[in-house]
Amino acid sequence: MDTIGTRSHEATTEMAEIGPEWVGAPDWVRHEGLKRWVAEIAALTEPDAIHWCDGSPEESDRLCRRLEAAGTFKRLNPEKRPNSWLAWSDPDDVARVEDRTFICTEREEDAGPTNNWVEPSEMRSTLNGLFRGCMRGRTLYVVPFSMGPLGSPIAHIGVELTDSPYVVVNMRLMARMGKRVYDVLGEDGFFVPCVHSVGMPLEAGQQDVPWPCNPVKYIVHYPESREIWSFGSGYGGNALLGKKCLALRIASTMGRDEGWLAEHMLILGVTSPEGRKMHIAAAFPSACGKTNFAMLIPPQSMPGWKVTTIGDDIAWIKPGADGRLRAINPEAGYFGVAPGTGYATNPNCMAALRANVIFTNVALTDDGDVWWEGMGPEPEHCLDWQGRDWTPGCGRKAAHPNARFTVAADQNPVIDADWDNPAGVPIDAFVFGGRRSDTVPLVTEARNWDEGVYMAATMGSQTTAAAAGAQGVVRRDPFAMLPFCGYDMKRYFQHWIDLGRRLEAAQAALPAIYCVNWFQTDDEGRFIWPGFGENMRVLEWMFRRIEGAAQGQDTLFGIVPTHADLNWQGLNFSEDAYRRITAIDPEAWRRELVSHTEWFGKLGTPVPAALLAVHDQLASRLS
Ligand code: OXD
Ligand code: MN
Repeated sequence: MDTIGTRSHEATTEMAEIGPEWVGAPDWVRHEGLKRWVAEIAALTEPDAIHWCDGSPEESDRLCRRLEAAGTFKRLNPEKRPNSWLAWSDPDDVARVEDRTFICTEREEDAGPTNNWVEPSEMRSTLNGLFRGCMRGRTLYVVPFSMGPLGSPIAHIGVELTDSPYVVVNMRLMARMGKRVYDVLGEDGFFVPCVHSVGMPLEAGQQDVPWPCNPVKYIVHYPESREIWSFGSGYGGNALLGKKCLALRIASTMGRDEGWLAEHMLILGVTSPEGRKMHIAAAFPSACGKTNFAMLIPPQSMPGWKVTTIGDDIAWIKPGADGRLRAINPEAGYFGVAPGTGYATNPNCMAALRANVIFTNVALTDDGDVWWEGMGPEPEHCLDWQGRDWTPGCGRKAAHPNARFTVAADQNPVIDADWDNPAGVPIDAFVFGGRRSDTVPLVTEARNWDEGVYMAATMGSQTTAAAAGAQGVVRRDPFAMLPFCGYDMKRYFQHWIDLGRRLEAAQAALPAIYCVNWFQTDDEGRFIWPGFGENMRVLEWMFRRIEGAAQGQDTLFGIVPTHADLNWQGLNFSEDAYRRITAIDPEAWRRELVSHTEWFGKLGTPVPAALLAVHDQLASRLS
């Protein structure tokens, strides 16, 4: 029996009144506050058993086999995909639920107009009702995890209580999870309490389903008390609470209070042919090729350049002792979107996925392997993500568009040697990228910190006709943080401005800031810039600018490289096309600035004066 602290739920409630001892914590857990909290949550949710996770491979194997027996997991062909599993979720539980995500601050204005807000005591009473008895017939797993290298001054600890073994095995890949976390936590260390339930109690004798969940979903954050409560979903960011909930929504609030940054950014290392290295943190909204950029393979025509991955999704960034910003990837794995990831577009990622992977909502091939749109050649037949027969041309997608892989970061063949360094890596540049079919140039360097913050605050993504039916609509996604900022966005902009002032006052080297747009289209709607590995040319220009060795042209919207400033060795790209994707069209920019004003209006007041000042400078240059 690998479960510790087994009790019938009748006994659970009774014993909770006596004290935390009954939860059966193993002796490596010495934190009385944690034991008390586990006892409280168990008394509320009434699980049949409590399992204190140790994070060992044996524990994960046992849980995977249990998930297989429950019908949640299918074991993939060990010859094709060793030690790998496939889960198909409930068709109503396939993505993050932003409309069910809440930021419950005492005052509504602290959550800001872009977050859903409910008064905390009202939310607590709703959740108490939902969580009462919600784990009956299930096991409560205690999942301790460190976001960031164990013991790093930038890292933080969370403990997730969940009734989903699928969550446990995913958390083990996504974070540093297990027994060793308790050594850092000690007897009274701080941790972020995270409570999760799929919201489907098994009343006496009730048969479980392969993917338990509840049509009622709540993803709730109390930023002031640093708590997370999630009910009703077993999927991704709704359920793996270390990721978006802790590492972005709660951590952004901690960063605001403590003077650091929790950002929706990948982190990469760039090494030049001379062996000099820089680190870049980059924010892109969803569906802008973030994983591809984090694992970029430079073209053969640029020998000696190397890109290595520190993180693919989230960065925690703090000023170091020398005043320079240092970043860690708080995660230990990738929970990446499978469709569009392929042998041609991202061979590094495909190599990472060769074994030890959990796939969710991809297709199952006849030889027991996985497939998804964009991976490689189509199979003649497979089972789609809902288990239905699929053949090419059948009119349906084989994989759900938000199908995912979960894999440990150290399987990435281009993992950076410092990815797990507790001190983090120094950040030389921030890159902000949107998806715009026109107006925003391929790359622009901000002339100063405030201008860079302005670029990030106004970045956006344009919907395509196919995706949204309303071509040309720009959805602003400042810093790619719109769904992930745990407090008022205007205050978040001010936090960035303030940090710049602090670093300047300390005479620290401020990172350069760039805005990129890989997505301008021609008159037929085709992408003009080849993207992928060719983005290395843009990275090289940034690298040389930071070294002080490259030129650019001062434009309305920052410094843009001329055609002569980029390395074209081995790429046939016409000067005309280059001019088109780097031109500043005054008419388009007049409209753009009006749209920025509208956007700031939606955020309410006060938008930081420093950003309004940048807006005025841009407007006066235009006129
Ligand atoms: C993600 C997202 O899953 O940004 O990383 O939605
Ligand atoms: Mn993300």
